[in-house]
Amino acid sequence: MSCSNGDKILRPEPFRIKVVERVSLLPFEERKRVIKKAGFNPFLIPSRDVFIDLLSDSGTCALSNEQLSILMLGDESFSSQRGYFYLIEKVKEITGFDYVIPCHQGRGAENILMDMLVKKEGLVVSNGLFETTRAHIEMRGAEGIDLPTPRIKEEDYLFKGDISLRKLRNILKSAPKKVNFILITLTNNSQGGRPVSLHNLRKVREIADEFRKPVVLDASRFAENAYFIYKHELPGKSIRAIVREMFSLSDIFYLSAKKNGLSHSGAIIGVKSRRLYENLSSLTLFFEGFPSHGGLPDRDLLLIAKGLEEIIDEEYLAFRIEQVKFLGEKLREAGIPVLYPFGGHAVYIDAEKLLSHFKNGFPGYAFASEVYVEGGVRVGVFGGKLSGGGTPEYVRLAIPHRVYTNSHLLWVVDAVKRVVERKKEIRELALSYSPPRLRTFLARFRQV
Ligand SMILES: Cc1ncc(COP(=O)(O)O)c(C=O)c1O
Repeated sequence: MSCSNGDKILRPEPFRIKVVERVSLLPFEERKRVIKKAGFNPFLIPSRDVFIDLLSDSGTCALSNEQLSILMLGDESFSSQRGYFYLIEKVKEITGFDYVIPCHQGRGAENILMDMLVKKEGLVVSNGLFETTRAHIEMRGAEGIDLPTPRIKEEDYLFKGDISLRKLRNILKSAPKKVNFILITLTNNSQGGRPVSLHNLRKVREIADEFRKPVVLDASRFAENAYFIYKHELPGKSIRAIVREMFSLSDIFYLSAKKNGLSHSGAIIGVKSRRLYENLSSLTLFFEGFPSHGGLPDRDLLLIAKGLEEIIDEEYLAFRIEQVKFLGEKLREAGIPVLYPFGGHAVYIDAEKLLSHFKNGFPGYAFASEVYVEGGVRVGVFGGKLSGGGTPEYVRLAIPHRVYTNSHLLWVVDAVKRVVERKKEIRELALSYSPPRLRTFLARFRQV
């Protein structure tokens, strides 16, 4: 953003704050006790003990005044409630999809979809599967394969969420029967939240048509993805038109409304065929709830419909992407190994690179624990040995929507920098408890 003399200035929040929530910083010695009790896993820290929470952008957003007021219009009837019809109208307008099923959250949608689409010993090929997506595929005796673009190594290539088209074609050629479908995650959370280009999506569609495979979008962060395309690939096209085209290139989509739906819960599945919709409806009835609400109160459907409308606002998206960049640049300037260029919802620190002196392990959890102790800041840990996705262990600083100002982020930067200064003193961790699946979230550690 530039001012009257052309100087670049920091874009301020395009909203003003109407309701506040008190947060406070526990004393240093208390924070040490808390992290130990949480088994050095930030997911297990009680949120009341957190000062600034960058664990996730999922379900952590602040609601707008319009969202809060529409809550009162929820029609809490058992089925076929008013909010459902409002939601399907909105989803149709934004995505172009006719058939829409709400679910309680993203993994509920994944459960139902994977039940229908994944075959035992099959393959699902992807630009990057989120942990729950991979788990749902593996639970059904199939394999999920990530095919990141080779351009991931180019310093300035922005669309590092792309899938490798060459590898995709090779797999489809060599094992056409085994591949159940292609899943593209927008933006690519397991590759630094970086976007997928429209060029890549169009090519995926061509390849899918050639091999007659369905394309499924995990569109949980579709709007952030669309903004990158708008800004860097197709500036002449509106965000709405880009969103429409992205969705049109798929056969099925699902999205966790906790991200770009600007809601605290919920998900949506969209399909184009009536037959598929009917099959999915009966599964929804089984696992989630009546297919007109998927286990959500009607007021939440209204909230999601409003959230989807609010997220595709160009001004908000510009602020959002710049806020992530602001945090990322401050850490990069300090020489901290962050994934670059930055993605749409978070800054990722490569903990394996940062703590390269670690012999065995868990540098992400060890570093995240120290960041909590230093500044009361909670950050997430993904990838690494516990995830099975083949990426290094990352510390993810995800920014909740409309919750923190840039001065909160400066506090975070200071805390991270102070931990980096004393990185040689950080103690390694060993696993003390490891659940059989989705280990990232529930594993516990002890210091060695
Ligand atoms: C890309 C992606 N897909 C799916 C999910 C699962 O969604 P939910 O948390 O609503 O179950 C997540 C959650 O973080 C995600 O980031």
